[in-house]
Amino acid sequence: MISSRRGVFWAGLRFLKNRIFSVFYHRYEQRLEREILNSEIPPHIAVIMDGNRRYAGQMGKTRSFGHAMGAEVTEKVIEWSYEIGIKQLTLYALSTENFQRPEEEVDGLFNLINEKFNKLYSDPRTYEKEMQVRVIGDRSQLPAFLKESIERIEKATENYTKFHLNVAIAYGGRQDIIQAVRDIAGCVSSGKLSLEEVDENLISKHLYPAPGVSVPNVDLIIRTGGDERVSNFLPWQANGSECATYFCAPYWPEFRKIDLLRSVRVYQARKAEKRQEHSFRISKVVNFLGIGKHGEKCE
Ligand code: IPE
Ligand code: IPE
Ligand code: MG
Repeated sequence: MISSRRGVFWAGLRFLKNRIFSVFYHRYEQRLEREILNSEIPPHIAVIMDGNRRYAGQMGKTRSFGHAMGAEVTEKVIEWSYEIGIKQLTLYALSTENFQRPEEEVDGLFNLINEKFNKLYSDPRTYEKEMQVRVIGDRSQLPAFLKESIERIEKATENYTKFHLNVAIAYGGRQDIIQAVRDIAGCVSSGKLSLEEVDENLISKHLYPAPGVSVPNVDLIIRTGGDERVSNFLPWQANGSECATYFCAPYWPEFRKIDLLRSVRVYQARKAEKRQEHSFRISKVVNFLGIGKHGEKCE
């Protein structure tokens, strides 16, 4: 009798603790969201969704459980990104290196990705958001059923421009550049292009999803799971474009909205620092040249 009363007491206390925590969490999330919405939202965020297997291991579950939990978070991140006004979201779902994993795991990932594309296809929210879905990567490495579901969702959403979801599958950044160079070299040798026409813009156009409108420069890369590397992800789009990086400890299945909001806050802080640095440099030049307020020399 006494022990059952104790059980009820502790369960009640736990419930109260969780309730208080969730109220504070929600308030914090709202405050953070208000704060970041007062400043510029990065137009293009790219995410290295890492840590599914470590998450599963920590919970004593299978790898496929970790990947399934990760995929649920991916769905939420698409919603949150749209809500805060991000225009392009590029997700790293499967790298070319990931093909070295056991066949059973790779097949499981193909099935999971396929299921999620089919879900996106039948979900009215895809069309309400006017979301364009595209895949970047080497499709020749994918099974036929997955290629079909990719083509179906791409075709159904090809004319949307409000929000872009790019999914990197069988993707490697260097491989992307190699295939673009081969493509361009072919055009030059057949006389369709002259060497003088090869510039940054042209190279961008030949990157995945070629042929088509390329994935634009990235403004912010997020990586979960604690590793501070970018793993051959979007090297062309992230380098030379002053892209901010946000490395965070939670495994992908643990990623919360506050983590996304914090990453945006880091992007905004970097932007503010750069602006400050820029105006500091200008004021130094102005002082050096002795130029007055109205642009005249003081002496
Ligand atoms: C990321 O999680 C998902 C994919 C690469 C498909 P991992 O599977 O790499 O999980 P960890 O990093 O080994 O925990
Ligand atoms: C990064 O995860 C790639 C994806 C999220 C698809 P990995 O676990 O494959 O990356 P590395 O090998 O640790 O860099
Ligand atoms: Mg990993």
